[in-house]
Amino acid sequence: LWKTTLYSILATLGYFSYQIYKELHPQKQVPQTETFENGSPRKNLVILGTGWGAVSLLQELDTTLYNVIIVSPRNYFLFTPLLPSTPVGTINVKSIVEPIRSIIRRTKGSVVYYEAWATDVDPQNKKITIKSVSPGESEQEDIKTIDYDYLVLSVGATSTTFNIPGVTENAIFMKEIADSERVRSKIMKTIEKASFLPKNDPEREKLLNFLIVGGGPTGVEFAAELQDFIHQDLKKTMPEVAQDIKVSLIEGLPNILNMFDKELIDYSQNFLIHEKIDLKLNTMVKEVTPDYIVAKCKGEEVKLPYGVLVWSTGIKPQQLTLDTMQKLDEQTERRGLLIDDKLRLLGAQDSVFGIGDCTFHPGFVPTAQVAHQEGLYLANTFEKLYEIDQLKWQSEQPNADKISIKKNIENLESTIVDFKYSHMGSFAYIGGDKVIADLNIYGGQYKLSGGNLAMWFWRTAYLSMCVSLRNRVLVSADWIRTYIFGRDSSV
Ligand code: FAD
Ligand code: NAI
Repeated sequence: LWKTTLYSILATLGYFSYQIYKELHPQKQVPQTETFENGSPRKNLVILGTGWGAVSLLQELDTTLYNVIIVSPRNYFLFTPLLPSTPVGTINVKSIVEPIRSIIRRTKGSVVYYEAWATDVDPQNKKITIKSVSPGESEQEDIKTIDYDYLVLSVGATSTTFNIPGVTENAIFMKEIADSERVRSKIMKTIEKASFLPKNDPEREKLLNFLIVGGGPTGVEFAAELQDFIHQDLKKTMPEVAQDIKVSLIEGLPNILNMFDKELIDYSQNFLIHEKIDLKLNTMVKEVTPDYIVAKCKGEEVKLPYGVLVWSTGIKPQQLTLDTMQKLDEQTERRGLLIDDKLRLLGAQDSVFGIGDCTFHPGFVPTAQVAHQEGLYLANTFEKLYEIDQLKWQSEQPNADKISIKKNIENLESTIVDFKYSHMGSFAYIGGDKVIADLNIYGGQYKLSGGNLAMWFWRTAYLSMCVSLRNRVLVSADWIRTYIFGRDSSV
């Protein structure tokens, strides 16, 4: 037995050392050139975004086959599933981001990155316009036009407010790192401000009402993390304030976590109530003021004062997505870009692809899982398209055997099969080291609620989904740090 243990330890150490070596010493990259050695043009592949879809595509793609250009205002990949753990400090924000410069340094062919917003897509002329995020001396200096042969739109989506008055001005979203930092700052400052006031002061009571609107997985996971922080850490350092904080989760529908099975929904709702989270179901927020929200609950209007308000009621398309839809007659769906079964954008099929949250498909929920699988699928498609383009170029050369090349092209085209999404399951963290999981393993459905196995699956799945070994190590270290030392309440 001791020999097996020793070999396992050595194998694990060897694996990790190799991974660390690979991350620290990336191979020499093939430079970008106008043409390949045979004289055929190396095509421009432009990818918009550095999120789940774009990075999955980039990591899987053979980047020596194209001149790859990435455009995104965010110069890092964000591991969103653990974002709700960051405002209270269970996980450090830096542990769940991976700089895009590190990701593109590890690809086989060199990749160009522009820290910019894509502001316009011109499918007729195969051009995009981009605007630098850092304003320069003149407008002209900030704007660039890029020609593309292939374009991938993976610009994600943005938080929705359903045009409810006062949300943008008074609430904080939970979508990006900047949101997480704002939520943290607001919570810690509000707690300190409340502790400054006498116990019976009505202002203190208002400040200590923490409201989370939206009982989807984002709202639930953040409410759970917040309550963990209050119960496990704040109770030790600021017990008088901790015992008076009231966390409320507000949901317009009769249930939270509607994408889960009824049994898991019931378990979660009962657990959140047990954790003293005030669950306000059938409560639709209609207006937000700086001091209170106005909601409709069973036909009655209620006013709920708050000190901290976090808003997570889902997503809506980015401006670029809306502008692109306007240009193409086939784009008739307001919720996102319509794509065909090969992920090609309707109306611009030959050269523009859409993946992730910026697209709409009745069969898919906008999740990291879908965006990731679509990214992998496209990487494979682009390898085939490269081969097809090479054959097309060969057929234009003098003395080419056009008939057999045409046949080869048709054969290759037939190998680009339709995208098929394979749902692996869903998780949600509900607090107190409890997770619900709806798993789909080898066609079998497994539901886990609460036990150690669910928590183990959740942690293992999230660690394996991290895009670098560095992220895995940092996230694991954060979990251990939180377990031993707890979370701190500094801003
Ligand atoms: P994103 O990952 O959002 O990336 C979009 C990219 O486009 C970003 O880099 C952005 O900066 C860039 N961009 C935006 N506009 C432009 C522009 N004009 N030009 C160029 N670039 C642009 N899903 C799960 O499956 N499991 C989970 O546990 C999970 N947890 C989540 C937790 C939270 C808090 C949130 C907010 C989401 C969570 N999701 C989860 C959903 C998941 O994050 C999204 O479905 C996923 O990020 C979609 O990937 P994407 O590539 O389409 O978009
Ligand atoms: P969501 O769309 O899943 O949930 C939003 C909730 O807000 C809904 O339940 C809706 O009824 C409620 N709501 C809307 N307007 C309201 C109002 N005015 N008042 C009260 N309630 C209102 O949004 P969420 O949680 O932000 O998730 C976005 C996407 O990211 C989803 O596709 C989700 O599946 C995915 N995600 C997945 C996670 C996971 O798998 N663990 C974690 C987080 C997000």
